[in-house]
Amino acid sequence: MIVMLRPILLHPDPRLKKVCAPVGVVTPEIGALAEDMLQTMYDAPGVGLAAPQVGVLSRLLVMDCVKDPEAAPRPMVLIDPEITWSSEERNTYEEGCLSIPEHYAEVERPARVRVRWTGLDGTGLEEEFDGLWATCVQHEIDHLNGKLFIDYLRPLRRQMITRKMEKLKRELARA
Ligand code: NI
Repeated sequence: MIVMLRPILLHPDPRLKKVCAPVGVVTPEIGALAEDMLQTMYDAPGVGLAAPQVGVLSRLLVMDCVKDPEAAPRPMVLIDPEITWSSEERNTYEEGCLSIPEHYAEVERPARVRVRWTGLDGTGLEEEFDGLWATCVQHEIDHLNGKLFIDYLRPLRRQMITRKMEKLKRELARA
């Protein structure tokens, strides 16, 4: 299989604001997309990537939050993920996003979540996530609903980041 790095869309982009469509049946094309996305995520490098970030408006995300470089990687592909339970307990993490490079901000979310999804082989799976995994899976599911981590920030901070990103995109377009 030929794995292809896909260009990552940068905020602001109308495709990052869309509610994505369910995948439903897992086709070979979806499998190829997932492999490309994992490679693109590791290459960036990042711990999570959602399909709209590579311009595909389908409910699919990949993640690997294993931080220890000595530990075995755990590449995960979640198709049509749904949060079935969130803890009352909350947790704050400094979040970033491959579509908003070089900008980080603290976001508060449920500390633990249960997620149900379809695996690459079409089977139904369910798992409880905590720590960075919980933050990451919620951040990525937000992407499938057109929501970015900066949407949790105060409007002024959000506008400042968006203006800096617009400037960065103008510079990249000229280069
Ligand atoms: Ni992101």
